[in-house]
Amino acid sequence: MRVFTGIQPSGDLHIGNYFGSIKAMVESQNENDVFAFIANYHAMTSLGDGVRLSQLTMQAATDFLALGIDPEKSTFWVQSDVKEVLELYWVLSSFTPMGLLERAHSYKDKVAKGIASNHSLFSYPVLMAADILLFGSEVIPVGKDQIQHVEIARDIALKFNNEYGEIFVMPEFRVDENVATVPGTDGQKMSKSYGNTITIFGEEKAIQKTVKKIVTEAIAVEEPKEYEGCNVYNIAKLFLDDEGRSALQERYNRGGEGHGHFKLHLHDVMWEYFRPYRERRAYYEAHQHEVREILQMGAQKARAAAAETIEKVRMVTGIHY
Ligand code: ADP
Ligand code: TRP
Repeated sequence: MRVFTGIQPSGDLHIGNYFGSIKAMVESQNENDVFAFIANYHAMTSLGDGVRLSQLTMQAATDFLALGIDPEKSTFWVQSDVKEVLELYWVLSSFTPMGLLERAHSYKDKVAKGIASNHSLFSYPVLMAADILLFGSEVIPVGKDQIQHVEIARDIALKFNNEYGEIFVMPEFRVDENVATVPGTDGQKMSKSYGNTITIFGEEKAIQKTVKKIVTEAIAVEEPKEYEGCNVYNIAKLFLDDEGRSALQERYNRGGEGHGHFKLHLHDVMWEYFRPYRERRAYYEAHQHEVREILQMGAQKARAAAAETIEKVRMVTGIHY
C-alpha cells in the first residue's frame, strides 16, 4: 500500500511530533511503500526567508534520516526536486472551484490569526492535492487539522476523473485514533505555537532546564503522589515498557520522593531513548553531502513514480500536441 506523507520543514522536532506521527511512519516502512517528502514549497506560504528555508530543509532531512526514515525501503525527497508537482498544481487549478478553497478551515484560521492572506496561502490545498495525486497515493496519515485538505484532494480528483476518465487514484485519509495527544510542559497539547515543547535533539542542559519547568502538583516530599494526571508521568510513560511504568508508579505510590526526582528520571529515560538517534544525527550532520545524495536518489525514485501520472495527464488534457 502506498502511504504518503508531507513534512513541513519547520524547525526543531519535539517529542509530540515523534510519538504523534514519526514513530508510526518509521515503523510502517516494513509493510508499506512509504513516500515521504519535505514540503518546502508549502513552507514558502509562511516563511519569506530564503536562507532560513534552505537551512530548515536540510535540518528536516537530517532529522528524519536520524529518526529512521530508511531511503532503501522508502522514497524520501524534497518537494522542489520533482517539479512535475507544479505542473499538476496548475492543471488541477482548473478543477478547483473557488468555493472549495473558500471553505478551507486552515486558510480561514491562518487569516484570522493575522497571517497576510496571499494566493499561495489560499491555493495551498491545490498544491497538496497535486502532491497526493501525482504519486498515486492510497493512504494519507494525517492529524485532524489536515483531514479537510485530503477531502479537497478527493473532490478535485473526482472532478478531473469525471471529465477525463480514471486517471487519479482516490486517496483516503487515515487518522490514528490510538495516538494519544502528548502533553507539553504546561499540560496542554505539546505544540511549537504554545512554547511548551521538549525537543528531541536539543542540548542536554537545555532539555534538563525544560524538564524542570514541567508543571506539577505542589505536595510534600514524603506524601504518596498520584501518577495519573501527572504531566511528568504522562510524558515518561511514552518512553517506558510495562515494567518501567510499574516501577515508576510504585515510586509515586510509595511517597518519599519529590517531583524533582521524577523529573530527573524522565530526563535520563529520554536521553537514553534518543541516544542512538542522536548518534545517527551527529553522523549525518557531519556528512551533509551524504544527506544530499540520499535526497537526490529519492527525487529520482519519486520522479519515476510521477512520470506515469503526469504523462497521462498531459495526454488527456491536450498539453501533448
Ligand atoms: P506543532 O503543533 O508543534 O506545530 P505540527 O502541527 O507541525 O506540530 O505537527 C506535526 C505532526 O506531529 C502532526 O502530524 C501531529 O499530528 C503530530 N503532533 C504534533 N504535536 C503533537 C502532540 N502534542 N501529540 C501528538 N501528536 C502531535
Ligand atoms: N499540509 C501538510 C502539513 O501542514 C504538509 C503536506 C503538504 C502534506 N503536502 C502534503 C501532508 C501531502 C500529506 C500529504 O502538515
